[in-house]
Amino acid sequence: MTLPSYAMNQASFPEMYERWLVGPLFRPWAKMALDELELSSGDRLLDIACGTGIVARVARERLGEAGYIVGVDISPDMLAVARAVEPAIDWRQGNAGELPLRNGETFDVVVCQQGLQFFPDRPAAAVQMRRALAKGGRLAIATWRPDDEIPFFRKLRRVAERHLGAIADRRYSFGEAAPLEALLRDAGFHEVRSRIISRTIHFGEGAPFLHLNTVALVGMSSLAKEMGDQERKRVVEAIVSESAPVLQPYTIGSGLAFELSTNLATAKG
Ligand SMILES: C[S@@+](CC[C@H](N)C(=O)[O-])C[C@H]1O[C@@H](n2cnc3c(N)ncnc32)[C@H](O)[C@@H]1O
Repeated sequence: MTLPSYAMNQASFPEMYERWLVGPLFRPWAKMALDELELSSGDRLLDIACGTGIVARVARERLGEAGYIVGVDISPDMLAVARAVEPAIDWRQGNAGELPLRNGETFDVVVCQQGLQFFPDRPAAAVQMRRALAKGGRLAIATWRPDDEIPFFRKLRRVAERHLGAIADRRYSFGEAAPLEALLRDAGFHEVRSRIISRTIHFGEGAPFLHLNTVALVGMSSLAKEMGDQERKRVVEAIVSESAPVLQPYTIGSGLAFELSTNLATAKG
């Protein structure tokens, strides 16, 4: 994962992602994207940058066991978790810029939830999405809004930057709707539209979330790439501890609630 590369090299990060982040953070948006696409029986669905597979899994809940569903991700570690959670889905390792599709294989629905911002060549990925989509098929892409618009994440980043200097947080690096729409139009999609969706995210346990978010931030810092494991661990601990005042207004018991916003772009093939 180009996301937090340091974090993703730790075998346990995908497991923690699935255990702590997917339910509260990614599942609700997966449901919304699939609502928007109005899945119907017989739809063939491709989940690009599937991670541990939440979009594909929600699609399977809706399409049933006979559903033709493929998940693609560049990270073997994320896919290992996806396979362990749902062995029945066709999980494939591959790059969004060069999708591992069979000869002539196309899909009625293509989804990419919070993946596009990490792709080094977004135009190539958009062209691949277009190629994968059957004529008249439906596409949905979600990318978080810029973190300058999301006070909770902006403030947490600033705490990390006190230790690490400027951090270019790739999770929020493709947050404006206009370039997202232009990318899809340039790739030949029709009926390109996007809207901003905001919702309150609830974490039953705040501590694991803070740890994972901090590991992700440290993983994206160029300064931290020069550090040894021990020093990086110490920096993570210091940032977690100094983040307590930021968390305070968002804390409910041992949990957290904060506002988060995404772009949801849709288009037709
Ligand atoms: C934030 S995760 C989102 C995962 C999943 N879509 C979800 O909603 O939980 C981003 C994913 O993009 C994947 N990714 C990054 N670059 C990629 C690329 N070039 N091709 C395919 N997947 C990529 C990462 O491995 C990671 O699993």
